[in-house]
Amino acid sequence: PPALTIPDLLRKYQQHVPITMITAHDYITAKWAQDANIDIILIGDSLNMTALGQSSTTSLTMSQMQHHLKSVTNSEGSSLFICDMPQGSYEVSMRDALDNAYKLIKSSPKVASLKLECGPVEKDVHSHKVVEALCSRGIPIMGHIGLTPQRAHAMGGFKVQSNTEKDAYQLLDTAKNLEKVGCWSLLLECVPERIGEWLSNQVSIPIIGIGAGRAVDGQVLVVSDALGMLPGDPPKFVQRYAQVGDLATRALKEYAEDVRTRSFPQDQNVFKIKKDVWNALKN
Ligand code: KIV
Ligand code: NA
Repeated sequence: PPALTIPDLLRKYQQHVPITMITAHDYITAKWAQDANIDIILIGDSLNMTALGQSSTTSLTMSQMQHHLKSVTNSEGSSLFICDMPQGSYEVSMRDALDNAYKLIKSSPKVASLKLECGPVEKDVHSHKVVEALCSRGIPIMGHIGLTPQRAHAMGGFKVQSNTEKDAYQLLDTAKNLEKVGCWSLLLECVPERIGEWLSNQVSIPIIGIGAGRAVDGQVLVVSDALGMLPGDPPKFVQRYAQVGDLATRALKEYAEDVRTRSFPQDQNVFKIKKDVWNALKN
């Protein structure tokens, strides 16, 4: 099937069909998502914490992102691809932001949209201007609001956002401005369910939630969280749909045991020599 387009997703939104989204960090995880008919595959900078084993998203570089972007977008299927802009790739100057946005876009023609973390519109004037500049140049942008992990240190850690009336109105202003400057969608992370509902009743673009409750227009999870690829307990907003990590470790223990006991390889795993060659060698 041809890849979904942004108009296809906006149609789902208008028809109140929930939008499905998952991250992928390489060809294999992307292939799984494609075969599951997930609407959107996000090449999220969380890959720094999963595929690359770092403790936050902030050390991910542009070239690392481009490398993973190429791997993910090699997967065939109907999912629409969105790529995160890494921390530091759009904050320094407008010129840098445009340059890096085009670098990501040019890494694969399959990237349909970029995602940028945006702070409150009253404070983070620059990011909102970057979003406007990209949208006006025809680069579709998903704005990421609420908990923005690239700013985790400034926020005092990974915490539920918009717990006061003031913060809620600030988030509303931010969402409304991103809609105004041209975002086709928003990602809303880690807010009370009522805030997700309240916001989605006041903007006219799809809101994809993660830890944002049930009233938003779609859901996203990090693939390694959803599939249980790594040890440790996931955050409250995650549902584990598999325990792939346990399965893999068990399988590899079995493999190692088979090697140690010489039960692998077996007859069906080995190559046979031609009889005449063996007869000649034997003598
Ligand atoms: O990088 C990421 O995984 C994200 C999540 C919020 C989905 O941005
Ligand atoms: Na991200």
